[in-house]
Amino acid sequence: MKRVAIAIAHPNIALAKYWGKRKGGGNVPAVPSLSVTLEGLSTTTTVTFDDEAVSDSLVLNGQPCSGAPLQRATELLDRVRARAAMTSRAEIVTVNDFPTASGLASSASGFAALALASVRAAGLDLDSQSVAQMARESSASAARSLFGGFVELDGEIVRTVAPRDALSMRIVVAVTTEAAKPVSSTKGMLATETESPFYGAWLEEAPVIFSALRAALIEGDFVRVGEWAERSALAMHGCIMGGGLVYFSGATLDALACVRQMRQSGIAAFATMDAGPHLKCLVRQPDVAAACERLTKVPGVLRVIVASPGEGARIVG
Ligand code: PMV
Repeated sequence: MKRVAIAIAHPNIALAKYWGKRKGGGNVPAVPSLSVTLEGLSTTTTVTFDDEAVSDSLVLNGQPCSGAPLQRATELLDRVRARAAMTSRAEIVTVNDFPTASGLASSASGFAALALASVRAAGLDLDSQSVAQMARESSASAARSLFGGFVELDGEIVRTVAPRDALSMRIVVAVTTEAAKPVSSTKGMLATETESPFYGAWLEEAPVIFSALRAALIEGDFVRVGEWAERSALAMHGCIMGGGLVYFSGATLDALACVRQMRQSGIAAFATMDAGPHLKCLVRQPDVAAACERLTKVPGVLRVIVASPGEGARIVG
């Protein structure tokens, strides 16, 4: 017998970042985070549980995958199988309509879509919170992609804190390389936890930034959200660098300087960077064209992608 479900999920970008995991396992972030789920960029994943299949298989963007990506997918499927008391192996076919190495958190949308499709295909009747826990154990940021708009992840709790239209925000991604990131976020977090003399300060400061950003968001104050988002990214990267790891390239810093020049010239533009060299510029909708024009001219910026706040993961078949 075959049981099929198809889910669609979008990447998300953290405005208040998390970095580091709680001790004791379970892949629980050490600090709260707040993200925006993106529209216009999608991962579509089809999961087919097949009683005849002898092993799980994964095809990503038309390419059969083995090794670590298949292993991580199997671990998620194992949690779903345990919950559904079933043993069938699954075929996973997943497609991103955006470049996988574009710094747009394809693992977040990937694990969100995989968790939702596999739960549905297994016949489990779980609420979004429970599906998010399945996704979080694979990739903590993936839990946030189950929900739409502006989403917080605090310990194991994930929820939408403001709808997608709470701010007239657009995200202009300045793509600075086509290569995959050299150090995964999981490895980078471990290096920071053990090596950075600033990790203790980050654990104290990140919740303060999170609360300030959350309050500004609820008041609909775009400028304060942007200011706190840039602070969060720089505090996180400062802490990471203290442990010896640098995710920025020269192009990242040039793009950051460009965003700051925009601010000096009166455009409310703010920067955020994740575990890679790309920069994401937060602007209001009317400033998108100016931000794209200026960022495209920065040496080392290959292209820009514009995204808006979007909806959470859902079943489409
Ligand atoms: O949960 P991961 O492994 O996708 O790591 C996410 C790390 C950051 O993107 C840098 C921060 C965040 O809160 O998303």
